[in-house]
Amino acid sequence: MSYVSIAVCPGSFDPMTLGHLDVIERAAALFDRVFVGIARNSSKTPLFDLPQRVALATDAVAHLPNVEVVEVPGLLVDFCTSVGASAIVKGIRGASDFDAETPMALMNHHLTGVETIFLHARPEVAHIASSLVKDVMRFGGEVADMVTEPVYAAMQQAMAEKNLYIRDTSRKDEQ
Ligand code: PNS
Repeated sequence: MSYVSIAVCPGSFDPMTLGHLDVIERAAALFDRVFVGIARNSSKTPLFDLPQRVALATDAVAHLPNVEVVEVPGLLVDFCTSVGASAIVKGIRGASDFDAETPMALMNHHLTGVETIFLHARPEVAHIASSLVKDVMRFGGEVADMVTEPVYAAMQQAMAEKNLYIRDTSRKDEQ
């Protein structure tokens, strides 16, 4: 009898950070096969559209042979069922993540019985959140050591195209 363990690492990944990547690498060591499921979060307005997020994430996990990035077209639990996943794996950076993730984990379990496994973020990357990385970059901060090089380049391009950079007018070199 052969048994293949399959997990889904879901999220908005707008964009994927080194914090996400750490959780995915650890999930890939625990499960035979891992799907990174890029999904819509109805409470967020993304910087990147879904195909862009899929392309950036696919590049970031290219070194992991048992990991595949896919778009989640609808409900996460339906996607989990369609790929035969028995578990959802999510990273937890702190108490607010736990508070936000718990209702989703319970709802997903209610819907299909799929289990959610939480991995504690490593302290070195526990402060890295896509929303914070975007905010720091908008205001001119350096984020190159928190994302992959292609993500960094794509963020620079998207911020410039969408006119999202905010200049600090009090800085002497800006006047
Ligand atoms: O990275 P995020 O934004 O915290 O991830 C949340 C996400 C995208 C995994 C969640 O919003 C989701 O599962 N969306 C797909 C639609 C769905 O199944 N919604 C019900 C969740 S209980």
